[in-house]
Amino acid sequence: MTESLTVRDNRTGQEYDVPITDGSIKAADIGKIKADEETPGLAVYDPGFVNTASCRSAVTYIDGEKGILEYRGYPIEQLAEKSNFLEVSYLLIHGALPTKAEYEAWVHEITYHTFVHENVKTFMQGFRYDAHPMGMLMASTGALSTFYPDARNISDPDNRHMQIVRMIAKMPTLGAWSFRHAQGKPYIYPDNDLSYTANFLSMLFKMSESKFEADERLVKALDILFILHADHEQNCSTNAVRSVGSSQVDPYSAVSAGIGALYGPLHGGANEAVLRMLRRIGTKENIPAFIEGVKNGNEKLMGFGHRVYKNHDPRATIIKKACDDVFEVTGVNPLLEIAKELEKIALEDEYFISRKLYPNVDFYSGLIYEAFQFPPEMFTVLFAIGRTPGWLAQWLELVQDKEQKIARPKQIYTGERRLDFTPASERWA
Ligand SMILES: CC(C)(COP(=O)(O)OP(=O)(O)OC[C@H]1O[C@@H](n2cnc3c(N)ncnc32)[C@H](O)[C@@H]1OP(=O)(O)O)[C@@H](O)C(=O)NCCC(=O)NCCS
Repeated sequence: MTESLTVRDNRTGQEYDVPITDGSIKAADIGKIKADEETPGLAVYDPGFVNTASCRSAVTYIDGEKGILEYRGYPIEQLAEKSNFLEVSYLLIHGALPTKAEYEAWVHEITYHTFVHENVKTFMQGFRYDAHPMGMLMASTGALSTFYPDARNISDPDNRHMQIVRMIAKMPTLGAWSFRHAQGKPYIYPDNDLSYTANFLSMLFKMSESKFEADERLVKALDILFILHADHEQNCSTNAVRSVGSSQVDPYSAVSAGIGALYGPLHGGANEAVLRMLRRIGTKENIPAFIEGVKNGNEKLMGFGHRVYKNHDPRATIIKKACDDVFEVTGVNPLLEIAKELEKIALEDEYFISRKLYPNVDFYSGLIYEAFQFPPEMFTVLFAIGRTPGWLAQWLELVQDKEQKIARPKQIYTGERRLDFTPASERWA
């Protein structure tokens, strides 16, 4: 028996049967409900898409109540522990784990597309000396569409594959150069002998040495952070990629829209706010007074709470562990002590327990990034590099989905109507 919803329109007394599929109803079916033939059908008002499914997707599964995050069905905990970022990227893009031959071919392809056209370097050098690296990343990713005009041929699977490889490969190069730019340091070319993440660290930090090889523990920790950020279903930036991509534009333009969305403080900026908060608290002794301030509604405990996760954020547990490995190499950030104590106190406090507020991915990630000596402006760039395979997997799904249409939401018009226009010469007379 098909499930359905019976809706009675009290304006007309008419009843409608609306089919329920996959726990949802089609907004178009609601649109059939009309007060009379002249008025438009009923619309659904949902600013921020709080309860609107925009697509069918088989990429990422989240159960916020239970604290579950899975990429293509694999739990994030297992991927972070046993896989690596490029294998996870393959999984996200292709929907299944690679065979040995597929994996080797994938790593080879990505590795040999890390270089960018020299003109990209030239125009990146044209940014102001203090340009924000995220603005540089967004602009240079969008600009790649002009270097690969064939990318607009999105209906050709081989062509799509080529652009996906290019983008995953080049993102660390663009991100590292954006970082070096603000420091006035020369841009470092990719070192294709190194792994994806080790090469990124080399492009960030290499100076006069002939080869830069970062401590393996740091490489591993950053690789895990990339995995944790690789996808998060229909978040703001992914929605931006899908929305822009729905016009059938090339993937560079769509991903650069995603980078724009991630640039905003409500999306990618919370870890920076956590660092500011920890610095302000300063010492463990100040924590109780700070917590009181939060409970009185004077401020928020940054890095706590999540729109979706109401039990725990599985990424936070993994990051906390990675913290220890990083600090073993770099020495402990004194703010870690405050963070751990703050977490302990908050998790025992009725205010946070009753509101289901737990540490989220950003509570510890800023501390790790700081240990790498990244300035806060770089945090979202790191997020963007990690999120690129997720954006592309979602884009790929979108362009192959027969049910997808150009994104074009409705509105509830609240302005004036049918005003009479008086020419300026008369209005200003
Ligand atoms: C992430 C966040 C925006 C989710 O917000 P949301 O799902 O809309 O949750 P709400 O704002 O409805 O919060 C529910 C209750 O918990 C409280 N709350 C939520 N997050 C809180 C926080 N970090 N510190 C203190 N109180 C918090 C709210 O004040 C509200 O309390 P009330 O019921 O007494 O009014 C929110 O938790 C937040 O701002 N966290 C801090 C910023 C952050 O770490 N963002 C990164 C997310 S990955």
